[in-house]
Amino acid sequence: MQYSAKVIAHFQNPKNNHKMNDADSIGKVYNPYDCGDMVKIYLKSDGEIVKDITFECVGCPAAIASASVFTEMAKGKSVSEVLKITRQDVAAALGGLPENKINCSVISCDAFRKAVKKLEKKSAQGGKGGLLKRLFKK
Ligand code: FES
Repeated sequence: MQYSAKVIAHFQNPKNNHKMNDADSIGKVYNPYDCGDMVKIYLKSDGEIVKDITFECVGCPAAIASASVFTEMAKGKSVSEVLKITRQDVAAALGGLPENKINCSVISCDAFRKAVKKLEKKSAQGGKGGLLKRLFKK
């Protein structure tokens, strides 16, 4: 299977692909399945809404396209909604991924989850009012 037109478009012109200096939290994840490639998600959030989200990626076209479309899917949504986004959702938003590239799409979801957990930790230490505790109780 070849890359879809959407994968190629996101790979050639990735959205939200930059460092965020004033991020509330950062999640960094390596692809444990194939190659050790990396996605870093920068998150700006009050714990309820994803106000801004950007990424940096050292990875294959599928990983870069996945991170790009994931940030587009996440921006403006509630944190709890974004936590429900799966690698299948990411792959579907890209018009499908080759079977051997499916694992490349999961690292953005995992990096987001990691950023949210770090935000939750900050919140528990008196930061953002314990909002994220509610999300993780569900
Ligand atoms: Fe490394 Fe896709 S092969 S992230």
